[in-house]
Amino acid sequence: MLCLTLTGSTLEENRALVEQNRTWISLAELRLDHLNRDEQKIASSFPSTVDLPIILTFRRKSDGGLCTLGEKERLQTLYETAKGDYAYVDIEEDVKKSDLKFRDSMFEQKVDLERMLRERGVRIIRSLHDFTCVPADIYGRISKLASKGDIPKVAVTPKSMIDIISLFRVQAELSDIKDKIIIGMGDFGICARLLYKKCGSMLTFCSDTQAAPGHLSARTMSELYHADKVDEKTHVFGIIGNPVYHTASPRIHNPGFEAIHYNAIYVPFLVDSVRAFFKLAEMLQIHGFSVTVPHKRNVQPYLGRITREVKQIGACNTVTRIQNMWKGTNTDYYGFLSPIADEIAQENIRTALVIGAGGASRAVVWALHNHGIKVTILNRSLEKARQLAEETMSSFDSLENCNLYSNSFDLVVQTTSVGMAPDTDEDPVPSFVFTGDEIVYELVYQPKETPFFKRATEAGCRVIGGAEMLLEQGKLQFEAFSGYHYPHWIQPDI
Ligand code: ATR
Repeated sequence: MLCLTLTGSTLEENRALVEQNRTWISLAELRLDHLNRDEQKIASSFPSTVDLPIILTFRRKSDGGLCTLGEKERLQTLYETAKGDYAYVDIEEDVKKSDLKFRDSMFEQKVDLERMLRERGVRIIRSLHDFTCVPADIYGRISKLASKGDIPKVAVTPKSMIDIISLFRVQAELSDIKDKIIIGMGDFGICARLLYKKCGSMLTFCSDTQAAPGHLSARTMSELYHADKVDEKTHVFGIIGNPVYHTASPRIHNPGFEAIHYNAIYVPFLVDSVRAFFKLAEMLQIHGFSVTVPHKRNVQPYLGRITREVKQIGACNTVTRIQNMWKGTNTDYYGFLSPIADEIAQENIRTALVIGAGGASRAVVWALHNHGIKVTILNRSLEKARQLAEETMSSFDSLENCNLYSNSFDLVVQTTSVGMAPDTDEDPVPSFVFTGDEIVYELVYQPKETPFFKRATEAGCRVIGGAEMLLEQGKLQFEAFSGYHYPHWIQPDI
């Protein structure tokens, strides 16, 4: 179930949020601490005005909420509001039983909130928050929270891949606790939010406003990832990197899986340790994954088989499971070649100037070299250009001399990060003059038109943008992952 966290300051605002997100969510959490004081007083009526189950929560500041009332007043307000038709009420782990008894003019004796809720069939969520780590005794604490038949909720902060493994192990350790809520907050936790069912969590929270660190919108969770449709048979794929959330790959693979009705999900994993990730990959039976910076080299010791291109380039961007071992391939190599394959076959490209000598450049230079194209590499650091040129029998020079190379090449490829957002005004070779006859390839895809791209277009060159290569390499990965061609009838939003 996807649960929308309601953070409006009025009930009316929250009803509108429910309305906007209704197609994607199964329940919502009313956060009393986000309501203004007058609205808090009438919030008991909220569940009867919407058509889905509501969790009632009144979060203290120390647990990531906004409530600054004294504890007595907070619990009194929670008690009054809980008289409404709520399906669940959230009570923090450390609230004492004695603090949940209230005087009420309607009754002679003090009312026990927990008893009142249980008698009415309202489930109590016992919640534990930790914004600093995943506590070492997490399994014991979840068991304790569940001991009275309540739903344990742990929202903790993984700080590494090892912590993520602890979260995904909850299900194996505590499979007898059927109803539980497991949340990984912050950047590392996003994979656990998307794969909440694999952690054994009955639901996960979402919001448009990042009500908690790492929240995704309900629409993204449901329409892009189909996180609520994950089941035992779902094949898990993903991308590992650090950073990783800028990547467009989930927007290529998830819609592709959906279009061919393949029960699979593709998730970004923020990875600090490749070794730990391979452990997680075994635990979750991950079928394959993409690899981005800085792990394209780091994965290699864990691969049972690699292709010739991976060996040459020294980088692997695709890992698949083949008969109990991991196989590494490099689809950047073929993705780069795809838009110029016809020109190469027709021998319209015999010489190429490659700007840059980093990771992306290595795939480009090797792909061109292996097709008999004479390459010249220009790079800011001459030493890096020299190394790559020696490996691939290419020529090389410093980027400063770029004006000397105008009018000499069939293909010019820009592989540096210059011009990429946020520094979108920059051109790595401002003094290079295009004749208009070159085929120009700009690997940067954000923005789509860099200053280099625009200059080449204005000079009359045929210009290929980085989005084309990105999509082509993604389609090849999709084939390696699923065994099916990428559906030709969809256009991913990258
Ligand atoms: P990637 O994997 O994206 O290729 P990389 O391996 O870090 O990333 O390589 C970045 C490339 O962009 C290198 O060629 C780098 O030049 P240096 O080897 O001299 O560092 C180039 N680059 C980055 N910033 C640059 C800048 N401001 N001017 C010129 N080249 C730059």
